[in-house]
Amino acid sequence: MSGTSPRPAATGYELLRNPRLNKGSAFTEAERRAHGLEGLLPPVPITLELQVARIHAELASLDDDLQKYLLLSDLQSRNETLFYAVLMSDPAAFMPIVYTPTVGEASQKFNHFFRSTRGVYLPITAQGRLKDLLANWPDKDVRFIVVTDGERVLGLGDLGVGGMGIPIGKLALYTTCAGVPPQFCLPVILDVGTNNPALLDDPLYLGLRQNRVRGEAYAAFVDEFVEAVHALHPTCCIQWEDFANFNAVPILARYRDKVCTFNDDIQGTAAVALAGIYGALRISGQRLADQRFLFLGAGSAATGIAQLISQAMALEGVAFEAAQSHNALFDINGLLVRSRADLADFQKPFALDHAPVSAFVEAVRALRPTGVIGVSTVPKLFNQPVIEAMAEINERPIIFPYSNPTSRSECTAEEAYRWSDGRAIFAAGSPFPPVEIAGKTFVPGQGNNVYIFPAIGMAVFATEASRVTDELFIVAAKAVAEQVTDQSLATGLIYPPQSRILPASLHVAARVAERIFDKGLAGVDRPADIPAFIRSRAYRPAYAKTSLPNLSPAATLNG
Ligand code: NAI
Repeated sequence: MSGTSPRPAATGYELLRNPRLNKGSAFTEAERRAHGLEGLLPPVPITLELQVARIHAELASLDDDLQKYLLLSDLQSRNETLFYAVLMSDPAAFMPIVYTPTVGEASQKFNHFFRSTRGVYLPITAQGRLKDLLANWPDKDVRFIVVTDGERVLGLGDLGVGGMGIPIGKLALYTTCAGVPPQFCLPVILDVGTNNPALLDDPLYLGLRQNRVRGEAYAAFVDEFVEAVHALHPTCCIQWEDFANFNAVPILARYRDKVCTFNDDIQGTAAVALAGIYGALRISGQRLADQRFLFLGAGSAATGIAQLISQAMALEGVAFEAAQSHNALFDINGLLVRSRADLADFQKPFALDHAPVSAFVEAVRALRPTGVIGVSTVPKLFNQPVIEAMAEINERPIIFPYSNPTSRSECTAEEAYRWSDGRAIFAAGSPFPPVEIAGKTFVPGQGNNVYIFPAIGMAVFATEASRVTDELFIVAAKAVAEQVTDQSLATGLIYPPQSRILPASLHVAARVAERIFDKGLAGVDRPADIPAFIRSRAYRPAYAKTSLPNLSPAATLNG
C-alpha cells in the first residue's frame, strides 16, 4: 500500500452515518467523488422522489403496523430528509403509524425492540447534573422540547421509560403537519421510575428499576429540568405530554407564566373541541355566546374544554361567570349543582344553582342545551331518548361523543344522524366512516389534537414567543374552523381533511403568530406579511446541495 493520505473527517462513511446529511442512494456522482463516497454506495444515483416511492413499496409489503413503525423509525435514524419526505407525501396515512395508535404498541414494546437511540433520557439519579446531560445533545440550538415522564401514556397507563416513544412520535408530527424544522426539536423523558410491576420484573426493562418518585423530590427534579433547559436554550418551548393528571395540572400552573410552555393534553384537547364548535356554528349560523353546552363527564377533559369555551365566550362579551354557567357538567352522580357535597375544587366553578337531576336525558330537557359533549369514557350514554330530545330542542343539535377509543364513544355517527333525522352536527374523538341516510352522505369529523399542537408549535418557533397563553388556543381553534370548506360543511364535516394538514396548520400558525405579535410576546420583529413569514420558516424535505461537508456533532446522533 502506498502512503495513506488522511481523509478529511467529514467525508465518506461518516457522511452516510449522519441522518441529517445522509442522502443514501441520492448522492450525485459529483458529490460521491467530492466526499469519498465512491464505492460505498451502489453506483447509480436515484432521486428523492424515487427513494420515496421505494419506501412506499417497502411499507406496502408489510401488513403489520408495528413493522411499518419500525421501518420508519430506522429510516429516521438513517436519513431524516427521506423520512420526512415519506411522511409528508401522505400525512393522513402515516400519522396513525408514527403516532396513535401504533406508537402506543411501540412504546409498550420499547424495551424489547430498542434499536437506535433518539432524544435525551434524564433519570432522577442524575439530579444535580441535568444540565450536563442535556448539553450532551449534539444540536446546540434547541427551540422545542416535548417531554414526558411516561406515567399516563395514551390510554395505556404507566410505560416508564418506554414513554419516550411519545415525544419522538409527537415531534415527528410537529414537523410533518406544520413544518417545525426537525433540527430544532428534542424529545426528552424524565425517568423517575415506574409503578408498572410488569416492567419492574422485566429483565429487558431499560429505565430505572424503582417505584416512581413523588412529592417534593419529584417537583425539585422537574424544577431542575426546566432551569437547565432555560439556561442552555433560552428560547426553547417545553411541551408537557402524557403526565398523570395530578402532576400535569400543577406543572402547567407552576411554569405557564414563567417560561414558554404548554400541555397538549390539557390545552390542545380543549382547543380542538372548541374548533369543532366553531365549525358547527358555521353550519348553524349561530354565535358562540348564544350556546349552552351540557357535558357528560366532569373529569379533566370536561372541565378543560368547559373552561376554554367559557374564556372564548368571555371574549365575545359574555361575563366570565355567566359563560361558565353556559357549560353545565353531568357526572356519574348526576348534574353538578351547588348543593352537591362531593365536588372537587376544579369542578365547583361549573356547579349550577339548580335542583339535583339524576338522569342525563332529564338534564337535557331541563337545561335545553344547544350541544352535548361526551367525555365520560362510557359508551352508549347518548342513547336514542337523548339524541331525540336534543333534536326536539334544536334545529341543528351539536352532538360530540369525544370519549376514546371508538368502543367508548357515547354514540356512533350513524346513531346520531339517524335519531336526529340527519340534523345532528356530529364530531367524535375517534374516527367514524361516512354514513348514508335517505340518499344523503354525512362525513363525521374527528376532534384530533393534531389540528392544534403542531400549528401552535410552528407559531411559537417562528416568533420565538416568550409565553403560550390560553388565548392562543382560542385563536388556533377559530383558525382551524376557518379552514373547513363550504363543501365539507355541506356534508357535515366540521374539521379540515387530515390529508391537507400542512397548509391548514400553516394557516393556523400564521393566525396564532399574528396574536403573538399583537400581544408583544414575540422575540423577533413583526414581519409585514405574517403568512409568508411562517411559510418561509417551515421545513421542506429536500436535499441541500452537499458542498464541502460540514459535519456538526449531530454526526454521532445514533448509536
Ligand atoms: P376522567 O376519568 O377524568 O373523567 C370521566 C368523567 O366521566 C368523570 O367525571 C365521571 O364521573 C364521569 N362518568 C363516568 N361514568 C359516568 C356515567 N355512567 N354517567 C355520567 N358520567 C360518568 O376522564 P377524562 O380524562 O376527562 O377523559 C374522558 C374521555 O374523554 C376519555 O375517553 C378521553 O379519551 C376522552 N377525550 C377525548 C378527547 C378528544 O377526542 N380530543 C380529548 C380529551 C379526552
